Amino acid sequence: MAITLLTHKRIVLAVTGSIAVYKAVDLASKLTQAGALVDVIMTDAAQQFVTPLTFQSVTGRPVYTDLWQTDNSGGLPTHIAHVGLGEGADLLAVIPATANTIAKLAFGFADDVLSVTALAARCPLLIVPAMDGGMYSHQAVQANLGTLAMRGAYIIEPEEGRFASGLVGKGRLPETPTLIGHIRRCLAQQHGSLLNRHVVITAGGTREAIDPVRFVSNHSSGKQGYALAQAAIDAGAIVTLISTVNLPTPIGTTLIPVNSAQEMQAAVLETCQHADALIMAAAVADFRPATVADQKIKKKEDTEGLTVEMTRNPDILLSVKQRREELHLPRVVVGFAAESEHLLDNAQSKLQRKALDLLVANDITATDAGFGSDDNRVVILDKDGGTQRLELQSKERVSEIIIERVATLL
Ligand code: CTP
Repeated sequence: MAITLLTHKRIVLAVTGSIAVYKAVDLASKLTQAGALVDVIMTDAAQQFVTPLTFQSVTGRPVYTDLWQTDNSGGLPTHIAHVGLGEGADLLAVIPATANTIAKLAFGFADDVLSVTALAARCPLLIVPAMDGGMYSHQAVQANLGTLAMRGAYIIEPEEGRFASGLVGKGRLPETPTLIGHIRRCLAQQHGSLLNRHVVITAGGTREAIDPVRFVSNHSSGKQGYALAQAAIDAGAIVTLISTVNLPTPIGTTLIPVNSAQEMQAAVLETCQHADALIMAAAVADFRPATVADQKIKKKEDTEGLTVEMTRNPDILLSVKQRREELHLPRVVVGFAAESEHLLDNAQSKLQRKALDLLVANDITATDAGFGSDDNRVVILDKDGGTQRLELQSKERVSEIIIERVATLL
Protein backbone atom coordinates (compact mmCIF):
# COMPACT_ATOMS: atom_id res chain seq x y z
CA MET A 1 0.00 0.00 0.00
CA ALA A 2 1.30 3.45 -0.92
CA ILE A 3 2.45 5.62 1.98
CA THR A 4 2.42 9.35 1.20
CA LEU A 5 5.56 10.12 3.21
CA LEU A 6 7.53 7.39 1.40
CA THR A 7 6.31 8.10 -2.13
CA HIS A 8 9.25 8.99 -4.40
CA LYS A 9 11.63 9.10 -1.42
CA ARG A 10 15.10 7.82 -2.30
CA ILE A 11 16.23 5.35 0.31
CA VAL A 12 19.66 3.82 0.15
CA LEU A 13 19.34 0.50 1.97
CA ALA A 14 22.73 -0.91 2.93
CA VAL A 15 22.64 -4.55 3.98
CA THR A 16 25.52 -6.25 5.75
CA GLY A 17 26.44 -9.82 6.65
CA SER A 18 23.94 -11.05 9.18
CA ILE A 19 21.43 -13.87 8.84
CA ALA A 20 18.83 -11.12 9.38
CA VAL A 21 19.48 -10.12 5.74
CA TYR A 22 16.42 -12.19 4.84
CA LYS A 23 14.29 -9.68 6.75
CA ALA A 24 15.89 -6.84 4.79
CA VAL A 25 14.55 -8.43 1.59
CA ASP A 26 11.01 -8.09 2.93
CA LEU A 27 11.78 -4.54 4.04
CA ALA A 28 13.09 -3.60 0.57
CA SER A 29 9.96 -5.09 -0.98
CA LYS A 30 7.52 -3.31 1.37
CA LEU A 31 9.32 0.03 0.98
CA THR A 32 9.10 -0.33 -2.80
CA GLN A 33 5.39 -1.20 -2.60
CA ALA A 34 4.91 1.88 -0.40
CA GLY A 35 6.27 4.04 -3.24
CA ALA A 36 9.92 4.53 -2.22
CA LEU A 37 12.84 4.24 -4.64
CA VAL A 38 15.12 1.75 -2.91
CA ASP A 39 18.78 1.50 -3.94
CA VAL A 40 20.41 -1.47 -2.24
CA ILE A 41 24.09 -1.69 -1.36
CA MET A 42 25.36 -5.11 -0.30
CA THR A 43 28.63 -5.83 1.47
CA ASP A 44 30.59 -8.97 0.52
CA ALA A 45 29.43 -10.66 3.73
CA ALA A 46 25.77 -9.88 2.97
CA GLN A 47 26.14 -11.69 -0.35
CA GLN A 48 27.10 -14.85 1.52
CA PHE A 49 23.49 -14.99 2.75
CA VAL A 50 21.43 -13.58 -0.15
CA THR A 51 22.26 -12.73 -3.77
CA PRO A 52 22.02 -9.24 -5.29
CA LEU A 53 19.42 -10.65 -7.69
CA THR A 54 17.03 -11.15 -4.78
CA PHE A 55 17.07 -7.44 -3.92
CA GLN A 56 17.07 -6.41 -7.57
CA SER A 57 13.94 -8.52 -8.10
CA VAL A 58 11.98 -6.88 -5.29
CA THR A 59 13.13 -3.28 -5.88
CA GLY A 60 13.32 -3.34 -9.68
CA ARG A 61 16.54 -1.33 -9.41
CA PRO A 62 20.25 -2.14 -9.69
CA VAL A 63 22.07 -3.38 -6.60
CA TYR A 64 25.49 -1.99 -5.74
CA THR A 65 28.16 -4.43 -4.54
CA ASP A 66 31.51 -3.54 -6.04
CA LEU A 67 33.36 -0.25 -5.71
CA TRP A 68 35.45 -0.93 -8.82
CA GLN A 69 32.90 -2.29 -11.25
CA THR A 70 32.57 0.08 -14.24
CA ASP A 71 29.54 -1.51 -15.91
CA ASN A 72 26.56 0.55 -14.79
CA SER A 73 23.93 -2.16 -15.55
CA GLY A 74 21.19 0.45 -15.85
CA GLY A 75 22.09 2.19 -12.61
CA LEU A 76 24.84 4.59 -11.66
CA PRO A 77 28.37 3.74 -12.90
CA THR A 78 29.74 1.99 -9.84
CA HIS A 79 33.04 3.89 -9.64
CA ILE A 80 31.09 7.06 -8.95
CA ALA A 81 28.06 5.35 -7.41
CA HIS A 82 29.12 6.29 -3.91
CA VAL A 83 28.74 9.97 -4.79
CA GLY A 84 25.56 9.56 -6.85
CA LEU A 85 23.93 7.25 -4.31
CA GLY A 86 24.58 9.52 -1.38
CA GLU A 87 23.86 12.80 -3.17
CA GLY A 88 20.17 12.56 -3.92
CA ALA A 89 19.25 10.21 -1.07
CA ASP A 90 16.68 11.11 1.57
CA LEU A 91 17.99 8.43 3.92
CA LEU A 92 20.88 6.00 4.25
CA ALA A 93 19.63 3.02 6.25
CA VAL A 94 22.05 0.31 7.32
CA ILE A 95 19.79 -2.66 8.05
CA PRO A 96 20.97 -5.09 9.40
CA ALA A 97 24.21 -3.51 10.63
CA THR A 98 26.89 -5.94 11.79
CA ALA A 99 29.53 -5.19 14.44
CA ASN A 100 32.13 -4.98 11.65
CA THR A 101 30.19 -2.39 9.62
CA ILE A 102 29.38 -0.36 12.74
CA ALA A 103 33.10 -0.26 13.57
CA LYS A 104 34.00 0.80 10.03
CA LEU A 105 31.39 3.57 10.00
CA ALA A 106 32.49 4.81 13.42
CA PHE A 107 36.12 5.02 12.30
CA GLY A 108 35.37 6.44 8.85
CA PHE A 109 36.79 3.58 6.79
CA ALA A 110 36.38 3.87 3.02
CA ASP A 111 37.07 0.51 1.39
CA ASP A 112 33.73 -0.65 -0.07
CA VAL A 113 30.60 0.87 -1.64
CA LEU A 114 28.83 1.19 1.73
CA SER A 115 31.60 2.84 3.72
CA VAL A 116 32.47 5.25 0.89
CA THR A 117 28.79 6.14 0.34
CA ALA A 118 28.37 6.78 4.08
CA LEU A 119 31.19 9.34 3.96
CA ALA A 120 29.89 11.02 0.81
CA ALA A 121 26.21 11.15 1.85
CA ARG A 122 24.70 14.21 3.53
CA CYS A 123 21.33 12.64 4.35
CA PRO A 124 20.39 11.18 7.76
CA LEU A 125 21.98 7.86 8.70
CA LEU A 126 19.80 5.18 10.30
CA ILE A 127 21.52 2.16 11.80
CA VAL A 128 19.74 -0.97 13.01
CA PRO A 129 22.28 -3.35 14.58
CA ALA A 130 21.69 -7.10 14.42
CA MET A 131 24.14 -9.62 15.79
CA ASP A 132 24.18 -12.94 17.55
CA GLY A 133 25.12 -13.89 21.10
CA GLY A 134 26.51 -11.27 23.42
CA MET A 135 28.12 -9.22 20.64
CA TYR A 136 25.70 -6.29 20.80
CA SER A 137 26.41 -5.59 24.47
CA HIS A 138 30.21 -5.76 23.99
CA GLN A 139 31.92 -2.54 24.98
CA ALA A 140 33.58 -2.19 21.59
CA VAL A 141 30.23 -2.28 19.76
CA GLN A 142 28.58 0.03 22.29
CA ALA A 143 31.46 2.51 22.08
CA ASN A 144 31.25 2.57 18.28
CA LEU A 145 27.47 3.05 18.37
CA GLY A 146 28.00 5.85 20.90
CA THR A 147 30.40 7.57 18.49
CA LEU A 148 27.89 7.31 15.64
CA ALA A 149 25.00 8.54 17.83
CA MET A 150 27.09 11.53 18.90
CA ARG A 151 27.55 12.36 15.22
CA GLY A 152 23.77 12.40 14.78
CA ALA A 153 23.06 8.88 13.51
CA TYR A 154 19.68 7.38 14.45
CA ILE A 155 20.42 4.10 16.20
CA ILE A 156 17.54 1.68 16.68
CA GLU A 157 17.90 -0.84 19.47
CA PRO A 158 17.66 -4.46 18.41
CA GLU A 159 15.07 -6.69 20.05
CA GLU A 160 15.49 -9.44 22.61
CA GLY A 161 14.78 -13.02 21.68
CA ARG A 162 16.18 -16.22 20.25
CA PHE A 163 19.12 -15.99 17.82
CA ALA A 164 19.86 -18.27 14.88
CA SER A 165 22.58 -19.84 17.07
CA GLY A 166 19.98 -20.93 19.61
CA LEU A 167 21.23 -18.42 22.19
CA VAL A 168 18.81 -15.92 23.68
CA GLY A 169 19.59 -12.23 24.15
CA LYS A 170 19.43 -8.74 22.68
CA GLY A 171 20.45 -8.40 19.05
CA ARG A 172 17.52 -9.48 16.90
CA LEU A 173 16.48 -7.32 13.95
CA PRO A 174 12.91 -5.97 14.44
CA GLU A 175 10.20 -7.02 11.99
CA THR A 176 9.39 -5.01 8.84
CA PRO A 177 6.46 -2.88 10.21
CA THR A 178 8.68 -1.70 13.09
CA LEU A 179 11.56 -0.93 10.72
CA ILE A 180 9.25 1.03 8.41
CA GLY A 181 7.91 2.91 11.46
CA HIS A 182 11.44 4.01 12.35
CA ILE A 183 12.19 4.97 8.74
CA ARG A 184 9.01 7.10 8.61
CA ARG A 185 9.93 8.82 11.84
CA CYS A 186 13.45 9.50 10.65
CA LEU A 187 12.25 10.98 7.33
CA ALA A 188 9.57 13.08 9.07
CA GLN A 189 12.14 14.64 11.39
CA GLN A 190 13.77 16.28 8.34
CA HIS A 191 11.01 18.63 7.18
CA GLY A 192 7.63 17.73 8.66
CA SER A 193 4.94 20.41 8.86
CA LEU A 194 4.43 19.71 12.60
CA LEU A 195 8.09 19.52 13.61
CA ASN A 196 8.48 20.03 17.38
CA ARG A 197 4.72 20.43 17.84
CA HIS A 198 3.05 18.34 20.52
CA VAL A 199 -0.21 16.76 19.40
CA VAL A 200 -2.53 14.83 21.75
CA ILE A 201 -4.93 12.38 20.07
CA THR A 202 -7.66 10.24 21.64
CA ALA A 203 -8.83 6.97 20.11
CA GLY A 204 -11.44 4.26 20.61
CA GLY A 205 -14.71 3.99 22.47
CA THR A 206 -14.58 4.45 26.23
CA ARG A 207 -15.42 1.44 28.40
CA GLU A 208 -17.69 2.13 31.33
CA ALA A 209 -17.53 -0.60 33.96
CA ILE A 210 -20.65 -2.29 35.34
CA ASP A 211 -18.73 -4.75 37.52
CA PRO A 212 -15.20 -6.23 37.46
CA VAL A 213 -15.91 -8.25 34.28
CA ARG A 214 -18.49 -6.24 32.31
CA PHE A 215 -18.57 -2.84 30.65
CA VAL A 216 -20.76 -0.67 28.43
CA SER A 217 -19.06 0.61 25.25
CA ASN A 218 -19.69 1.44 21.58
CA HIS A 219 -18.62 0.35 18.10
CA SER A 220 -15.62 2.68 17.73
CA SER A 221 -12.60 0.64 16.53
CA GLY A 222 -9.98 3.31 17.21
CA LYS A 223 -8.64 3.00 13.63
CA GLN A 224 -9.21 6.67 12.79
CA GLY A 225 -7.39 7.80 15.96
CA TYR A 226 -4.42 5.53 15.26
CA ALA A 227 -4.29 6.69 11.64
CA LEU A 228 -4.23 10.29 12.92
CA ALA A 229 -1.36 9.42 15.28
CA GLN A 230 0.65 7.96 12.37
CA ALA A 231 -0.14 10.98 10.16
CA ALA A 232 1.02 13.32 12.95
CA ILE A 233 4.25 11.30 13.34
CA ASP A 234 4.72 11.50 9.56
CA ALA A 235 4.41 15.29 9.88
CA GLY A 236 7.22 15.28 12.47
CA ALA A 237 5.05 15.90 15.56
CA ILE A 238 5.60 14.71 19.12
CA VAL A 239 2.51 12.54 19.60
CA THR A 240 0.67 11.38 22.71
CA LEU A 241 -2.07 8.85 22.01
CA ILE A 242 -4.72 8.33 24.71
CA SER A 243 -6.44 5.11 23.76
CA THR A 244 -8.95 2.52 24.92
CA VAL A 245 -8.02 -0.04 22.26
CA ASN A 246 -5.12 -2.34 21.63
CA LEU A 247 -3.87 -1.70 18.08
CA PRO A 248 -0.21 -1.52 16.95
CA THR A 249 1.03 1.86 18.22
CA PRO A 250 2.74 3.98 15.53
CA ILE A 251 6.50 4.09 16.19
CA GLY A 252 7.43 7.24 18.07
CA THR A 253 4.06 7.66 19.80
CA THR A 254 3.71 7.88 23.59
CA LEU A 255 0.73 5.69 24.49
CA ILE A 256 -1.48 6.34 27.51
CA PRO A 257 -3.93 3.43 27.87
CA VAL A 258 -7.26 4.31 29.49
CA ASN A 259 -10.68 2.70 29.85
CA SER A 260 -13.39 5.07 31.04
CA ALA A 261 -14.39 8.60 30.04
CA GLN A 262 -13.23 9.83 33.44
CA GLU A 263 -9.78 8.28 32.97
CA MET A 264 -9.62 9.74 29.47
CA GLN A 265 -10.60 13.17 30.77
CA ALA A 266 -7.84 13.11 33.42
CA ALA A 267 -5.25 12.07 30.82
CA VAL A 268 -6.42 14.71 28.31
CA LEU A 269 -6.38 17.55 30.85
CA GLU A 270 -2.94 16.52 32.10
CA THR A 271 -1.29 16.19 28.68
CA CYS A 272 -3.03 19.22 27.14
CA GLN A 273 -1.33 21.61 29.54
CA HIS A 274 1.70 21.44 27.25
CA ALA A 275 0.13 20.48 23.94
CA ASP A 276 -0.17 22.53 20.77
CA ALA A 277 -3.15 20.57 19.47
CA LEU A 278 -5.80 18.15 20.71
CA ILE A 279 -7.70 15.84 18.36
CA MET A 280 -10.62 14.11 20.09
CA ALA A 281 -11.27 11.17 17.78
CA ALA A 282 -12.45 8.95 20.65
CA ALA A 283 -16.09 7.99 20.96
CA VAL A 284 -16.67 9.02 24.55
CA ALA A 285 -19.66 7.41 26.27
CA ASP A 286 -22.13 10.07 27.37
CA PHE A 287 -23.35 7.86 30.22
CA ARG A 288 -21.78 5.39 32.64
CA PRO A 289 -23.28 3.04 35.21
CA ALA A 290 -24.08 5.11 38.32
CA THR A 291 -22.34 2.57 40.54
CA VAL A 292 -19.75 -0.10 39.75
CA ALA A 293 -20.37 -3.37 41.58
CA ASP A 294 -17.33 -4.55 43.58
CA GLN A 295 -18.01 -8.17 42.74
CA LYS A 296 -19.30 -9.82 39.59
CA ILE A 297 -23.10 -9.41 39.44
CA LYS A 298 -24.64 -12.87 39.77
CA LYS A 299 -27.98 -13.87 38.28
CA LYS A 300 -30.51 -15.30 40.70
CA GLU A 301 -33.09 -17.97 39.97
CA ASP A 302 -36.05 -15.61 40.29
CA THR A 303 -34.70 -12.53 38.46
CA GLU A 304 -35.75 -12.00 34.87
CA GLY A 305 -33.71 -8.93 34.05
CA LEU A 306 -31.16 -6.45 35.27
CA THR A 307 -31.59 -2.71 35.42
CA VAL A 308 -28.42 -0.63 35.37
CA GLU A 309 -28.89 2.99 36.33
CA MET A 310 -26.77 5.31 34.21
CA THR A 311 -25.39 8.72 35.04
CA ARG A 312 -23.89 11.50 32.82
CA ASN A 313 -20.19 11.41 32.01
CA PRO A 314 -18.22 14.65 31.91
CA ASP A 315 -17.88 16.23 28.47
CA ILE A 316 -14.12 16.17 27.89
CA LEU A 317 -14.12 18.82 25.18
CA LEU A 318 -16.15 21.19 27.37
CA SER A 319 -13.64 20.75 30.20
CA VAL A 320 -10.81 21.46 27.75
CA LYS A 321 -12.67 24.58 26.60
CA GLN A 322 -12.75 25.86 30.20
CA ARG A 323 -9.04 25.17 30.78
CA ARG A 324 -8.16 26.80 27.50
CA GLU A 325 -9.63 30.08 28.66
CA GLU A 326 -6.88 30.25 31.33
CA LEU A 327 -3.94 28.47 29.67
CA HIS A 328 -4.55 29.31 25.99
CA LEU A 329 -3.40 25.77 25.30
CA PRO A 330 -3.92 23.67 23.26
CA ARG A 331 -3.94 26.25 20.51
CA VAL A 332 -5.91 24.05 18.15
CA VAL A 333 -8.74 21.72 19.19
CA VAL A 334 -10.38 19.29 16.77
CA GLY A 335 -13.54 17.36 17.56
CA PHE A 336 -15.34 14.57 15.77
CA ALA A 337 -19.10 14.27 15.44
CA ALA A 338 -20.88 11.00 14.93
CA GLU A 339 -24.31 11.84 13.55
CA SER A 340 -27.16 9.72 12.26
CA GLU A 341 -29.31 12.64 11.00
CA HIS A 342 -29.06 16.39 10.19
CA LEU A 343 -25.29 15.95 9.84
CA LEU A 344 -24.27 19.52 9.06
CA ASP A 345 -26.69 21.30 11.42
CA ASN A 346 -25.79 19.08 14.37
CA ALA A 347 -22.09 19.31 13.59
CA GLN A 348 -22.22 23.10 13.30
CA SER A 349 -23.84 23.46 16.71
CA LYS A 350 -21.29 21.04 18.29
CA LEU A 351 -18.43 23.08 16.81
CA GLN A 352 -19.73 26.25 18.44
CA ARG A 353 -20.81 24.71 21.77
CA LYS A 354 -17.42 23.03 22.27
CA ALA A 355 -15.41 26.04 20.91
CA LEU A 356 -13.61 23.89 18.33
CA ASP A 357 -11.30 25.05 15.57
CA LEU A 358 -12.23 22.12 13.35
CA LEU A 359 -14.94 19.51 13.51
CA VAL A 360 -14.83 16.30 11.50
CA ALA A 361 -18.38 15.10 10.91
CA ASN A 362 -19.22 11.47 10.15
CA ASP A 363 -22.51 10.05 8.97
CA ILE A 364 -22.67 6.85 11.05
CA THR A 365 -25.55 5.42 9.01
CA ALA A 366 -23.20 4.88 6.02
CA THR A 367 -22.32 1.18 5.74
CA ASP A 368 -19.13 1.67 3.70
CA ALA A 369 -17.44 4.14 6.05
CA GLY A 370 -16.96 5.10 9.69
CA PHE A 371 -17.16 2.65 12.60
CA GLY A 372 -14.84 -0.34 12.17
CA SER A 373 -14.27 0.35 8.45
CA ASP A 374 -10.85 1.12 6.92
CA ASP A 375 -12.42 3.99 4.99
CA ASN A 376 -14.17 7.17 5.93
CA ARG A 377 -16.25 9.86 4.26
CA VAL A 378 -16.34 13.08 6.27
CA VAL A 379 -17.04 16.78 6.16
CA ILE A 380 -14.57 19.09 7.91
CA LEU A 381 -16.17 22.22 9.33
CA ASP A 382 -14.10 25.13 10.57
CA LYS A 383 -14.88 27.90 13.00
CA ASP A 384 -15.03 30.48 10.22
CA GLY A 385 -17.95 28.66 8.62
CA GLY A 386 -15.98 26.83 5.92
CA THR A 387 -16.78 23.23 4.94
CA GLN A 388 -14.52 20.72 3.20
CA ARG A 389 -16.13 17.51 1.93
CA LEU A 390 -13.86 14.46 1.70
CA GLU A 391 -15.16 11.67 -0.52
CA LEU A 392 -14.82 8.03 0.55
CA GLN A 393 -11.13 7.28 1.08
CA SER A 394 -8.81 5.48 3.47
CA LYS A 395 -8.67 6.62 7.08
CA GLU A 396 -4.92 7.16 6.49
CA ARG A 397 -5.59 9.69 3.73
CA VAL A 398 -8.40 11.39 5.71
CA SER A 399 -5.97 11.66 8.64
CA GLU A 400 -3.28 13.27 6.50
CA ILE A 401 -5.73 15.92 5.36
CA ILE A 402 -6.87 16.63 8.94
CA ILE A 403 -3.24 16.83 10.11
CA GLU A 404 -2.40 19.27 7.30
CA ARG A 405 -5.35 21.44 8.37
CA VAL A 406 -4.03 21.40 11.95
CA ALA A 407 -0.53 22.30 10.74
CA THR A 408 -1.93 25.25 8.79
CA LEU A 409 -3.77 26.52 11.88
CA LEU A 410 -0.63 26.23 14.01
N1 CTP B 1 -16.85 14.15 23.46
C1 CTP B 1 -16.27 14.49 24.65
N2 CTP B 1 -16.83 14.10 25.84
C2 CTP B 1 -18.01 13.44 25.85
C3 CTP B 1 -18.63 13.11 24.64
C4 CTP B 1 -18.03 13.49 23.46
O1 CTP B 1 -15.21 15.12 24.65
N3 CTP B 1 -18.53 13.09 27.02
C5 CTP B 1 -16.20 14.56 22.21
C6 CTP B 1 -15.95 13.44 21.22
O2 CTP B 1 -14.66 12.89 21.39
C7 CTP B 1 -16.07 14.15 19.88
C8 CTP B 1 -17.07 15.25 20.15
O3 CTP B 1 -17.10 15.43 21.57
O4 CTP B 1 -14.86 14.74 19.47
C9 CTP B 1 -18.47 14.95 19.71
O5 CTP B 1 -18.87 13.68 20.14
P1 CTP B 1 -20.33 13.14 19.87
O6 CTP B 1 -20.52 11.85 20.60
O7 CTP B 1 -20.64 13.19 18.41
O8 CTP B 1 -21.22 14.30 20.49
P2 CTP B 1 -21.83 14.56 21.89
O9 CTP B 1 -21.27 15.83 22.37
O10 CTP B 1 -21.72 13.39 22.78
O11 CTP B 1 -23.35 14.81 21.47
P3 CTP B 1 -24.50 13.76 21.08
O12 CTP B 1 -24.03 12.41 21.53
O13 CTP B 1 -25.64 14.26 21.84
O14 CTP B 1 -24.63 13.87 19.61
